[in-house]
Amino acid sequence: MTQTAIVTGGGRGLGAAIAARLASDGMKVIVADLDEAAARATSDEIRAAGYTSEWETCDVTQEGEVAALVESVVERHGSLHHLVASAAIETRAKLADTTDDDWNQILDVNLKGPFLCMKHAIPRIAASGGGSIVLMGSVLGFIGQPSYSAYCASKGALANLMKQASIEHAAEGVRVNLVSPSATDTGLFLRMAESTGNPDAIIDMVIRNNPMQRLGTGDEIAATVSFLCSPGAAYLSGAVIPLDGGMAARRIV
Ligand SMILES: NC(=O)c1ccc[n+]([C@@H]2O[C@H](COP(=O)([O-])OP(=O)(O)OC[C@H]3O[C@@H](n4cnc5c(N)ncnc54)[C@H](O)[C@@H]3O)[C@@H](O)[C@H]2O)c1
Repeated sequence: MTQTAIVTGGGRGLGAAIAARLASDGMKVIVADLDEAAARATSDEIRAAGYTSEWETCDVTQEGEVAALVESVVERHGSLHHLVASAAIETRAKLADTTDDDWNQILDVNLKGPFLCMKHAIPRIAASGGGSIVLMGSVLGFIGQPSYSAYCASKGALANLMKQASIEHAAEGVRVNLVSPSATDTGLFLRMAESTGNPDAIIDMVIRNNPMQRLGTGDEIAATVSFLCSPGAAYLSGAVIPLDGGMAARRIV
């Protein structure tokens, strides 16, 4: 039976790479994004490559939209097996300069969004015989980074929400894990580097600080998400999986 997966934030960056990978694994992939053009473009690209995909617009901060997304997928396909929560935003401001609006917006998209997606997807995944939820965390959920206080807080809280969901729903066959990438060659990181006007300097600095001396790639993140959605990961739940070239290990010693 063909499995069905929703990828939020699938219009761009890591979400787009993950959507393409899951589709090439043989899943029907629903690319869900706030940005209609981006969602459509990812989905079109997947279909052009010969795989199965649809797109839907959805603001993950709006419970009604999340519920409608999940219901429409189940209505059309009869089941839902996997959810990848990749939609997120960041702003750069020191804690004392973070506005109330920025704080609320980041926590809404990065933490409440995955909460709402899990709330509505979990019962459907359980009813479909079980499956996998992958939350997109960040190394910044486990360390501080100047000017990222709201983002760091959102990703740290997401890790504990993942653990909570994994133990509450394990008996229903719903596995929940969080991947924790460091800077990769796509998405938020690249745009942040470009916005400084000197992207090469930022990228060089990040590379020098990474034990593997390079950025991660979208394909590498997608390969791990693919594994987490595969039968090989059947006993894997409640885990934080570092995808960071060894950065987390180095911090511990
Ligand atoms: N890119 C990196 O190097 C990196 C590193 C560590 C962690 N991450 C995490 O990986 C995930 C993906 O990041 P990315 O770099 O691909 O980001 P991105 O900005 O390239 O893509 C995020 C997508 O989410 C969508 N989105 C934003 N708000 C939304 C909302 N309210 N509802 C629905 N969709 C919304 C955007 O339209 C965009 O298409 C995020 O959770 C991010 O925190 C990324």
